[in-house]
Amino acid sequence: MEPLLPVLLGLVAVFVAWTFLKVQKARRQLPPGPAPLPFIGNLLMLRFQLHHETLLKMASTYGNVYTLWVGHTPIVVLNGYQAVKEVLVTRSEDFAERPITSSLRDLIGNADGILFSSGHSWKQQRRFSLMTLRNLGLGKTILEDSIRQEASGLIEAFAQENGKPIDPNSFLHASINNVIASMLFGHSFCTKDDVFQDLVDGSKAMGEFNGTVWARLYDAFPRIMKPLQPILQRTLLALIHWRKLKALIANEIWEHQKNWMPGEPRDFIDSYLAQVEKCKGDPTSTFTETNMLQVIMELFIAGSDTSTVALSWALLYMVEFPEIQEQVQKELDTVLGPSHVICYEDQKILPFTNAVLHETQRFSSLSAVGVMHKSTRDTSVMGMPLSKGVIILPNIFSAHYDPEQWETPRKFNPSHFLDKDGNFVNKNAFLPFSAGIRVCLGEKMARTMLFILFSSLLRAFRFQLPEGVKGINREGILGHAMSPHPYKICAIPR
Ligand code: HEM
Repeated sequence: MEPLLPVLLGLVAVFVAWTFLKVQKARRQLPPGPAPLPFIGNLLMLRFQLHHETLLKMASTYGNVYTLWVGHTPIVVLNGYQAVKEVLVTRSEDFAERPITSSLRDLIGNADGILFSSGHSWKQQRRFSLMTLRNLGLGKTILEDSIRQEASGLIEAFAQENGKPIDPNSFLHASINNVIASMLFGHSFCTKDDVFQDLVDGSKAMGEFNGTVWARLYDAFPRIMKPLQPILQRTLLALIHWRKLKALIANEIWEHQKNWMPGEPRDFIDSYLAQVEKCKGDPTSTFTETNMLQVIMELFIAGSDTSTVALSWALLYMVEFPEIQEQVQKELDTVLGPSHVICYEDQKILPFTNAVLHETQRFSSLSAVGVMHKSTRDTSVMGMPLSKGVIILPNIFSAHYDPEQWETPRKFNPSHFLDKDGNFVNKNAFLPFSAGIRVCLGEKMARTMLFILFSSLLRAFRFQLPEGVKGINREGILGHAMSPHPYKICAIPR
């Protein structure tokens, strides 16, 4: 037995040396960055998280474009508006692919969908989904009607609390989920329903998982982490919710299939079923029932948590900055009055309210580090060559806090979106939905929900902190969307 130990140690030493040399060779072809440790890369200095503030701070040492190693995977991080814009907008086609991490692959299996797919399948699914959502209601009154209905429900639910401290998040999540469910399934849910609760918990848990240390560890060491799934609370929870959500949506599809008839589609599922029928026999078609399930799951997960979190930040800032809340209400009262039916077009006549919503999204920067992209060909960014297949992380937060783009980046300041006469002005560095070829597919839907729900709530209530509470934690919790810590506020009828 004894001679075995030196042999084993020798093999380990050879393996470590081989890995080290391989990483050093790869590093020469990538933008510079901190030296990675064997096996864990830079995870220790990152505290196992891709935190937007940490990534921005590192730019002062390594420049706006640098490489980090998550385990043995290199990721090129982009900071500042110019670098982020170059990748997302100017060279959009060069960075159109999506890398798929180990944690995601184990969750979603082999389905393509939109969010995590690339190439032909992504193009087909994205184009079809965009067109279908548009046909079903975007830009028409159907979507707005469903949002207004949810706004009335929210107002009623808040009013029933009689100004007592409430956590608004579960109410907001329920309303947003119902708007999305109406588009996808053709009906909303009763919020007291167990199925509905599963829907809320599912989209929330999936959103939260991505920001955790577990997700980073899973991606760095998939072979070690996968067998540990059953004992790791967070991964297990995400998995359980993923399966529940999948079963729930599969059931919705099955219900549609039972009484599906060709003709005018009632919702997204009907439209997709018709598309599967239409493309039968076409060898280039990616419209399958497996893909339908995946696309619907993604629309739900990508849309529900993000939109809820955006609205949650908006209410939080309104209690934090009561003078701004008053100014919004003054504009709503003067321009709309109490009985006007609020619609998306109204944002054009409500420049201050519109600016507050934009500033909320800039200041909270809930997309934080965006979603990873991958280069489709040999290319470059900010003059640095990058080969095909490199993973890119655009730090959207860094564009939203770029001192060259914003007058007071670290201050909540709606004037960032107003000219000197109080007219609304858009800003190129405003990127909550990202930009370019992979820009958020639900941008219009999210903007419509945010505007109608926010304006309706602020017209109906004055929001304030419960008595004795001095302030609210404004730090975000990292996830698919960076959410505020749970908080309580009072909704006082106006
Ligand atoms: C405030 C709400 C929302 C925010 C901040 C947001 C943000 C984002 C961001 C940053 C991306 C990544 C884009 C990129 O890869 O560069 C994205 C992608 C996506 N979003 Fe949203 N989103 C929101 C709401 C929605 C809604 C309501 C839906 C649909 C119901 C949706 C569906 C999607 C889909 C399908 C993608 C993947 C697009 C692709 O890979 O081609 N999102 N979103």
